[in-house]
Amino acid sequence: MVKAEARRKISVTVLGATGSVGQSTLDLIARNPERYEVAALVAGRNAKQLSALARKHNARLAVIAEPEGYSALKELLSGSETKTAAGRAGMLEAAQIEADVVVAAISGAVGLEPTLAALQAKRRVALANKECLVSAGKLFMTAARTSGATVLPVDSEHNAVFQALMAGPKETVECVTLTASGGPFRTHSAERLARVTPEEALRHPTWSMGAKITIDSATLMNKGLELIEAHHLFSLPPAKLGAVVHPQSIVHALVTFHDGSVVAQLSVPDMRLPISYCLNWPDRAEWEAPRLDLAKVGTLTFEAPDYARFPALKLAREVLEKGGAAPTVLNAANEVAVEAFLARRIGFNDISGLVRDVLARAEEERLAEPRTADEAIAVDHTSRSIARTLLLQFAAKAS
Ligand SMILES: NC(=O)c1ccc[n+]([C@@H]2O[C@H](COP(=O)([O-])OP(=O)(O)OC[C@H]3O[C@@H](n4cnc5c(N)ncnc54)[C@H](OP(=O)(O)O)[C@@H]3O)[C@@H](O)[C@H]2O)c1
Repeated sequence: MVKAEARRKISVTVLGATGSVGQSTLDLIARNPERYEVAALVAGRNAKQLSALARKHNARLAVIAEPEGYSALKELLSGSETKTAAGRAGMLEAAQIEADVVVAAISGAVGLEPTLAALQAKRRVALANKECLVSAGKLFMTAARTSGATVLPVDSEHNAVFQALMAGPKETVECVTLTASGGPFRTHSAERLARVTPEEALRHPTWSMGAKITIDSATLMNKGLELIEAHHLFSLPPAKLGAVVHPQSIVHALVTFHDGSVVAQLSVPDMRLPISYCLNWPDRAEWEAPRLDLAKVGTLTFEAPDYARFPALKLAREVLEKGGAAPTVLNAANEVAVEAFLARRIGFNDISGLVRDVLARAEEERLAEPRTADEAIAVDHTSRSIARTLLLQFAAKAS
């Protein structure tokens, strides 16, 4: 191991710096200034928070995706050493600026292009943005292989799988099981689910996260997206991938080997742990977070997911098996549905209903599997437009 004094700082770019994963990353960096430095920071529209973070971390570049926020960002950072930029070109510049690690933590398929740009520049990508892998998994992993870039999973379950897979050769892996907290409505009846509000859905029992992933956790779509993510990240067939509900969120994933051994990774639920793992890989940095005390936790429980009450997980499983354009469609439809639920335009159970209907319509239209980033963006746009049309019927029923 290299001594701390002699070590060059790890430079980190954060795409999605103002979000939950972005802030966890920057918290880790702020606590360890001797170990890390910030290269570029990207946000969607929050110029005020972005500028404060850029000043605090002395970022080389700060980029706001929404061009309307550019003049505010420029003014807020005047007199600092941070260069500013905006829009698509700015995001691509940030993704490719000299850095050791790019943390891909933009929420949604909109994160695909900058993350692909980071791969093309052969950056190590610490991937939180599961939607870009769901939406364009094959081409994403091909881009990484072609450039020789390393992709490391930030998602706690995939980070756990990554660590557990080291316990044996790949061909001896029988199956991989991701755990799901079950969300805030784990024990709700279908009738009760129909009436839950965005506020209730946003109250996750174990993790504090951005709005989109919190709703996905409540519908269990998140676990479905994660199965698709695992399929691409670890080149595992759908039949070897499963999910189990584990409300305590202590065991993050389990790998079963063909001799019957099961290797799991456990920790307190804190995203800074998998983020730190990705920033320091293949080393491990010391981390002062509370240690897991199993005697205090007392009981770890597991149960099978209920596909009837949480059909989003079943839909995602079917899509994983089907492949083609279906994962891109599923992701886009789900993003539209979650947004509509948060805006109170549709009910909770309508989220999976809308996604199901969009998938059926897209199948009728025979959307082809995207082979390039432009094709993935085109399928994504078509699916969103189908979703917005079908949404009107769901919204009319819900009002
Ligand atoms: N949160 C977690 O614990 C967790 C765990 C595992 C995986 N993930 C995954 O990590 C990703 C981020 O999740 P999160 O919870 O951190 O989300 P979040 O809190 O909603 O943050 C999203 C970030 O993306 C930025 N953003 C939004 N729209 C953008 C656009 N059009 N262009 C550029 N940037 C944009 C936001 O900027 P503004 O603030 O300016 O809008 C913000 O910085 C998601 O894919 C999620 O599934 C999250």
